[in-house]
Amino acid sequence: MYYSEEIIEEVRSQNDLVDVVSEYVKLKKKGSSYFGLCPFHNEDTPSFSVSPDKQMYYCFGCQAGGNVFTFIMQIENFSFIEAVKYLAERAHINLPESEYSGETRKKLEEKKILLNIHKEAAKYFYANLHSSRGRTAVEYLEKRKLQKRTQKLFGIGYSNIDFNDLYKYLLYKGYNEEHILKSGLVISKKNGKSHIDRFRNRIMFPIFDVHNQIIAFGGRVLDDSLPKYMNSPDTPLFDKSKNLYGLNYARVSGKEQILIVEGYMDVISLHQAGFKNVVASLGTAFTSRQALLLKRYTDEVVLVYDSDEAGTKAAIRAIPILSSVGLKVKVMQVPDGKDPDEFIKQNGGENFQKLLNEAMGAIMFQVHILRKKYDISDAEQKIKFTMEVAEILSKLDNAIERDVYIDELSRDIGISKESIFGVIRKIIAEKERSNRKQINYKKVSETFKDNIRIKQENNEENGLYKAQKNILSLLYDNPHIYEKIRPYLSFEDFDDATLMKAAKLIYERYDKGLNIEPAVLINNFESLEEQKKISSIFNSKEKNKYNDRDYDIEKAINDQIKLIKRASIDKKSRTTTDIYKIQTLIEEKKQLEKLYINIING
Ligand code: CTP
Ligand code: MN
Repeated sequence: MYYSEEIIEEVRSQNDLVDVVSEYVKLKKKGSSYFGLCPFHNEDTPSFSVSPDKQMYYCFGCQAGGNVFTFIMQIENFSFIEAVKYLAERAHINLPESEYSGETRKKLEEKKILLNIHKEAAKYFYANLHSSRGRTAVEYLEKRKLQKRTQKLFGIGYSNIDFNDLYKYLLYKGYNEEHILKSGLVISKKNGKSHIDRFRNRIMFPIFDVHNQIIAFGGRVLDDSLPKYMNSPDTPLFDKSKNLYGLNYARVSGKEQILIVEGYMDVISLHQAGFKNVVASLGTAFTSRQALLLKRYTDEVVLVYDSDEAGTKAAIRAIPILSSVGLKVKVMQVPDGKDPDEFIKQNGGENFQKLLNEAMGAIMFQVHILRKKYDISDAEQKIKFTMEVAEILSKLDNAIERDVYIDELSRDIGISKESIFGVIRKIIAEKERSNRKQINYKKVSETFKDNIRIKQENNEENGLYKAQKNILSLLYDNPHIYEKIRPYLSFEDFDDATLMKAAKLIYERYDKGLNIEPAVLINNFESLEEQKKISSIFNSKEKNKYNDRDYDIEKAINDQIKLIKRASIDKKSRTTTDIYKIQTLIEEKKQLEKLYINIING
C-alpha cells in the first residue's frame, strides 16, 4: 500500500460518507439510515442505503457497497490511490509524498503517456489544418462559418489523407507501439505487421474532459461520404458513456442552466453565438453517469433537440434519466426539422434565446407529445390519455406543480380535477405498496437464513463461497461466538483469498479484544472487486443476530464450518506428496464428520 494505514484511516474518518454521497445522490432519512436512488444502476425507487453509524453504503438493487473510498472509486472511476488523494483534498489533509505501489504507478504513468499522446496528436492535427495539406479542410470550416477564434478554442484540426502519418509522427516523438495502439488513434493490421491511422482526411474535434485535458477525438468527413463521424474507441482515458462534449466550457459559463444538444457542431456553433453553457451527448443515448456528471455543475438542464421524430424520442428517453438524479429538465424544440447549428446560423442568437425562454417543463412536454397521439373526441381514447398523463404526474414530488398541471389538463380535456386527482392518488398508493414489497423481499433474500437454503440448492463452489461469507458475517454480528469457533476454524481454512485476508484481520481484532469497524477494515483492500466482496459481509443486517435459542442457526454454523474445513483439507491433500501428512489429513477429515460445536450450551 502506498500510504500508511493511519493516514488512510484519517482521510476516511474526515470524510463523512453521508456528506460525500449527498454530493451525488439526493438522500432521505429513514430510521437510522439514509435512502436514495442508486447512482450505479437505473431505478425509479430508492434501494440505495447509507448507514451513518457504519459509514458504509449498500444497494439492495445492484449489491454495490463499501466505504467512502469504494464510493468515490466507483462513481469517479478512480483507483484507490486517486480516491485517497481526492478525499484528502476534500478534507484539507496534506498527504505525505511517497512511493506508489508497482501496479498503481504503472497505471498512472500509462495514463500520463496516453494524455501526452493525445496532446501531441492534437497539435499535429492543428498544424496539418494550417499547412498546405489542410486547404480543403480550411475551406470546409469557412463554409460552415466557424471563425478562426472558435476553431482555436475547440482545438479543431485536420487528419491527413495518408496511410499512417500520425503513427510515424508519434514514433518519431518517442512513443512506443504499445502506447500508440492503446491510445486508439492507430489501428494495427495484418497481425501487427502494418499500422494505419484511425482518422484520415477528417476534420478533427478533440474531446476534452472537465480538466481541459484531451482524452479522445471525433472526426468528420469533408463531404457526404459515410460514416459521417468517427470517434475514438473506449480507452483507459475515454469512456463515452461518462463524458460530455463541451462540459469543460459549460461548467464555467456562469449560467444557471446547461443546454444539451446532439452534436459537435451544435456545441461549437452555439458557443460561437454566445451560448457557452452547452454540452453534447455525441449521438448516443443519454446515460445516468452523464446525468450525474451534469448534476455536479448545475440544477437545471434544457434538452435542445430537433423537432423530428428521432429528436423527440431522444428527448423522451433522456427525461427520466436526467430527472432521476434530481435535475430540473426542460425541453426546447428547434423548429422546421433543423438542428441548433443550422437554426442559429439562419435565425441568429436572439431568436434562439426566444425559443429557449419558451422551453417547456419536461412534464408538460411529455403531456404534449401524448396529446398528439390521442383523439380526445373519442371517449375511450380520452380515458387512456388521462390514465397516461396521471402516470406521468404521479412522479412529481411537488404538490403545487402537480396541481397546476391537473388544472390545465382538466380544462383542456374536460374531465373534473377531482377525478384526475383520484386516479393519480391510486397510482401513487399502488407504487408505494409494490416498493415496500420489493425492498422487503430484497432484505430477506440477503439474510443468513435464506443463504442457508440457497447454499443447499446451489452447487458446491457457490455454497463454499457463501459459507465463508456467512461465517464472517456471523462473527461480525455476534462477537461472542468467536471463541467457540476459533479452535476449529483457522483463517487459513478460508479458500477465497479475499475472504481469507478479511478473516485474518477479523481474527486479529478479536484476539486483541477489539471491535470490528467495517469501514476501517475495508481500507485494507485496494481493488473495487475486493471492497465490494468485503462490504457484502457487513450487509446482512440484524437478521444475523444469533439468538440463544436458535438451534437452526447453530446447526447451520456447524454445517458451514464443516463445508469450509472439508474443502480446506481436500485442498491440502491434493497439494501434498507426503504420505504421512496425507494420513493425518484423512484422520482429520474423519474427526471433522463427528464434530459438532455446541454454541448454545457450550
Ligand atoms: N455521430 C457519430 N457517428 C455518426 C453520426 C453521428 O458519432 N456516424 C454523433 C456525432 O457526435 C454528431 C452527433 O452524433 O455530432 C449528431 O449527429 P448528426 O446530427 O448527424 O450530425 P451533426 O452534429 O448535425 O453534424 P453536422 O452538422 O456536421 O452534419
Ligand atoms: Mn448539424
